[in-house]
Amino acid sequence: MTFAATVLTLYPEMFPGPLGISLAGRALAEARWSLDAVQIRDFATDRHRSVDDTPAGGGSGMVMRADVLARAVDAARERQPAAPLIAMTPRGRPLTQERVRALAAGPGVTILCGRFEAMDERLFEARDIEQVSIGDYVLSGGEIGALVLLDACIRLLPGVMGAASSGDDESFETGLLEYPHYTRPVEWEGRTIPEVLRSGDHAAVDAWRLSRAEADTRLRRPDLWERHEGARVRSPSGARREKKDR
Ligand code: ADE
Repeated sequence: MTFAATVLTLYPEMFPGPLGISLAGRALAEARWSLDAVQIRDFATDRHRSVDDTPAGGGSGMVMRADVLARAVDAARERQPAAPLIAMTPRGRPLTQERVRALAAGPGVTILCGRFEAMDERLFEARDIEQVSIGDYVLSGGEIGALVLLDACIRLLPGVMGAASSGDDESFETGLLEYPHYTRPVEWEGRTIPEVLRSGDHAAVDAWRLSRAEADTRLRRPDLWERHEGARVRSPSGARREKKDR
């Protein structure tokens, strides 16, 4: 089954962009996913084909018009009713690997890319649209966010990454950052690869990797670590709860 991506944008020429090369590009050529980049301006109805206007209440920047966006969204939904509809905005819920996995398992996605200051809020009241952010910083538009979201989904599609994508150890898949990696040469600038990784003792390697994943997550991402520990406390085994309550 082809994962069908529709992107609603003022800059369709930004797509597939980086998704046209390497893994995603090959997968596109093999029709493991498809891409339809739709020009939002085609849904404007006035002589000037305007898609934005000045913000109510004053202030800087321009706001994308709800009527134009709704027409673009409705047309996309009609073509692909089963695909989740996502708007890229810094006001959205932060994208997670869990959400990416769920999207990649579905029929595809329709992504609305904002430009200018914002999209008219009434669009989100009137239509069922999931608002997604790719991080707590502001981009000049939603297109790069859409590329990020699509890249994360495409690499999970069947046949795209082969054996590499089966990596359940990958960062976030376990709720932890992934352990560090090494390759030859064994010694570089006086630094060696940790002895255990050269021992051939698979159980010891697994134990080392888990302990590094835990230590690095605790140090670098206390927010992730907190959630991970919280999940363990709530887990049915209750093993952690006993330890914590003591
Ligand atoms: N558009 C502008 N900034 C964004 C962000 N951080 N995430 C998603 N879309 C955006």
